[in-house]
Amino acid sequence: MKMMRTNNTCTMENHKVLMLMLMVFTFFFCSMPTFSKQNTFTTIAPNQFIQYSDTLVSAGETFEAGFFNFGDPQRQYFGIWYKNISPRTIVWVANRDTPVHNSTGLLKLNDQGNLVILDDSKGVVWSSNSSRIVVKPPLVQLLDSGNLVVKDANSTGNFFWESFDYPGNTFLAGMKLRSNLVTGPYKYIRSWKSPDDPSDGEFSYEIDTRGFPQLVTAKGERLLYRSGSWNGFLFSGISWPMHRIYNLLFVFTDKEVSYQYETLNSSIISRTVLDSYGTSQRFLWSDETQNWEATVTRPSDQCDDYALCGINSNCNINDFPICECLNGFIPKFKAKWESSDWSGGCVRRTKLNCFDGDGFLKYTNMKLPDTSSSWYNRSLSLEECMTVCLKNCSCVAYANLDVRYGGSGCLLWFHSVVDMRKHLDRGQDIYIRLAFSELDHTKNKRNLNMKLAAIFVGVIAFIIGLTALLFATSMSRKKLGCIRKLIQWNHKKEKKEEELPTVFDFSTMINVTNNFSYQNKLGEGGFGPVYKGVLADGQEIAVKRLSETSGQGTKEFKNEVKLMATLQHRNLVKLLGCSIHQDEKLLIYEFMPNRSLDYFIFDTTRSKLLDWTKRLEIIDGIARGLLYLHQDSTLRIIHRDLKTSNILLDIDMIPKISDFGLARSFMGDHAEANTNRVMGTYGYMPPEYAVHGYFSTKSDVFSFGVVVLEIISGRKNRGFCDPQHHLNLLGHAWRLWIEERPEEFMADILYNEAICSEILRFIHVGLLCVQRKPENRPNMSSVVFMLKGEKLLPQPCEPGFYDGRENTNSTGSSSKGCSINEASISLLEAR
Ligand SMILES: *[C@@H]1O[C@H](CO)[C@@H](O)[C@H](O)[C@H]1NC(C)=O
Ligand SMILES: *[C@@H]1O[C@H](CO)[C@@H](O)[C@H](O)[C@H]1NC(C)=O
Ligand SMILES: *[C@@H]1O[C@H](CO)[C@@H](O)[C@H](O)[C@H]1NC(C)=O
Ligand SMILES: *[C@@H]1O[C@H](CO)[C@@H](O)[C@H](O)[C@H]1NC(C)=O
Repeated sequence: MKMMRTNNTCTMENHKVLMLMLMVFTFFFCSMPTFSKQNTFTTIAPNQFIQYSDTLVSAGETFEAGFFNFGDPQRQYFGIWYKNISPRTIVWVANRDTPVHNSTGLLKLNDQGNLVILDDSKGVVWSSNSSRIVVKPPLVQLLDSGNLVVKDANSTGNFFWESFDYPGNTFLAGMKLRSNLVTGPYKYIRSWKSPDDPSDGEFSYEIDTRGFPQLVTAKGERLLYRSGSWNGFLFSGISWPMHRIYNLLFVFTDKEVSYQYETLNSSIISRTVLDSYGTSQRFLWSDETQNWEATVTRPSDQCDDYALCGINSNCNINDFPICECLNGFIPKFKAKWESSDWSGGCVRRTKLNCFDGDGFLKYTNMKLPDTSSSWYNRSLSLEECMTVCLKNCSCVAYANLDVRYGGSGCLLWFHSVVDMRKHLDRGQDIYIRLAFSELDHTKNKRNLNMKLAAIFVGVIAFIIGLTALLFATSMSRKKLGCIRKLIQWNHKKEKKEEELPTVFDFSTMINVTNNFSYQNKLGEGGFGPVYKGVLADGQEIAVKRLSETSGQGTKEFKNEVKLMATLQHRNLVKLLGCSIHQDEKLLIYEFMPNRSLDYFIFDTTRSKLLDWTKRLEIIDGIARGLLYLHQDSTLRIIHRDLKTSNILLDIDMIPKISDFGLARSFMGDHAEANTNRVMGTYGYMPPEYAVHGYFSTKSDVFSFGVVVLEIISGRKNRGFCDPQHHLNLLGHAWRLWIEERPEEFMADILYNEAICSEILRFIHVGLLCVQRKPENRPNMSSVVFMLKGEKLLPQPCEPGFYDGRENTNSTGSSSKGCSINEASISLLEAR
């Protein structure tokens, strides 16, 4: 890990720096095997071999191959990793199922041109099983793409065997997900069983070749997430890239379907990984931060879960509830639907007429539904497509297959459509079949809405007029002095406003962020990406580029920024100002050199830099920042998207909450309300918010509880799954708590008898914060006291979302012994 800091900003005392470095180095050396390297190969000829301590290096030194282990010397693997990236990032493993049991393994090219791994008794534990007949002298080489090949020694192409044909959990540039439709076999990405066991896990990332091909993530036969079908540019479910740094190549002929990507600039290091929990992530290596930046994560929200809303429905993450029946359809099971169990889907209100009198309703900006049983023809036009659909009574929808050049080709769906969602940026058009009577109905409803709107505007205008009149009359009655005071007050207010935050010049912001280049990108927040910049005077800033501004005008926006800038606290990130250019709105914050909390606590190496004392201070700081937002500030702010990645760390590792006030600015300022837009992050949202859209300061308390449990355990709530009981992190914490072994919940590095009781108190407070019912959660001022040990702690009940799904409707389970209001809680001593 490099410490990138300039002298003038380095305010940390020297001994702290030394200690940090010492810790890093101690760890580094402790975790390195203690033998010396023997040989570095660039090629292997027949009967030459690589042994345990040797490595094979690619010509451009990007990749390196050799034996390695995941910490257990009894399980040695031969694999490929990035030569110059630390910690070691494995991209391919040969003997995934058959590790060698000690350090005497050999990799050898045999006379038949097969790569084999031998153990100490010279038994073959793995073989490349090349079926090609090797006629010329073969050679093994590791290419700069990360492809390990057995090839004809005298030519550049002509591979007898290549590792890219046998992908593991990593999809690299140049690799192909390929399927020969005539002969097979089929190439796909397969997750590892666990982060330190590369044998086959449960998840695959592949092209589903049924119907019209689509890219999917699956668990066995079951689809979990669809990237969608290819529309000529990209897969219909993925976002349109802001910066083109990849070329996506999709081939679909009668004989073959394949997908690969290339990076447009060879200096870009990128990989896509399907992890052991079924999440696929695309990473970019950042030289500046010396870290992998996750650029795309799928699934990324609830609407990404396959078929969440059942058939004939639409998922829109910005609506509440997120699932909605298509026009002309009604929930199949009304009661279930209303209690947010949408799996039953929707049915037609009016049957189709089939031959005389059906029409279509157009939906724009959609992720197209599942194409695994759809019919397609590449040469039909959209109009012909409609005609074909109308001719077949079971056809229910059609769309263009290719969106390039104004659209072409025809895709048809039969019986029902499933897994459709509103796209976040640019989607496709789809036409849904409806009986004529329904189409009329929909039109009438629109007309009615317009009439209502007109009446509404009239009434508002009338009220405004009336108010103005009343105001004018009452004004005339007031004395002149009063008016003068009013003017003076206004004057004073204006003066004060001038001291408030700066409006930055937009073109300067473009310059300092390199035109919002991805190299300057720090991360992606709830309201848009964040970029780093350095002002002319040397001040480092973080620029948030707001992606959705809900049509808010410039003046209102400036007012909001002024209000947000009045929120100042040691544990909040400081807002410096804003910048506006037409529809573009930017917020400018102070820059936090130590990035965010998740960067430390979820990383095996970096987490060692945060001992319990540090973590305690961090939790305490977050609690104080949140208390200020809830209670002490003049504005009473609910954060609504508190999470570890929103907690930034300054140079002294003091936590600073970021993104506060944004929810309020964008969605109105009622302290408690029902919202029709659920925002926030899966995994940190309390049940009442995720399901009913109801939020209050207690929703933030829930998120805070999740953050506390994540800090203590070093694991993410979302993505964590305890293998035996299929519980998420909250459920896991709860189970260990009731089984009276909560100490097992702590991250390994925290295990220390002396401070155990203190950590247990924090787990206890964490559990209280994630209670299912908001009224059972303490408020932030209680939390601050509880953390200090100055308040006795009530016994927690089962947390919300404890088995990874919502359990708001399962009333009454195990709520015995838990009283509702804080005053009457039975007191227990802290363990
Ligand atoms: C190679 O073939 C042998 C025998 O058919 C089989 O047991 C082994 O699993 C194969 N290895 C690989 C890597 O496919
Ligand atoms: C590739 O990226 C590097 C570093 O960002 C840049 O200097 C170089 O000009 C780029 N090359 C091309 C061909 O775009
Ligand atoms: C697609 O439609 C065209 C025009 O009707 C037709 O000639 C062609 O055979 C169709 N292709 C398939 C695969 O059905
Ligand atoms: C409608 O299309 C489906 C799917 O292609 C096909 O199985 C069915 O025979 C067609 N029906 C008619 C009446 O053409």
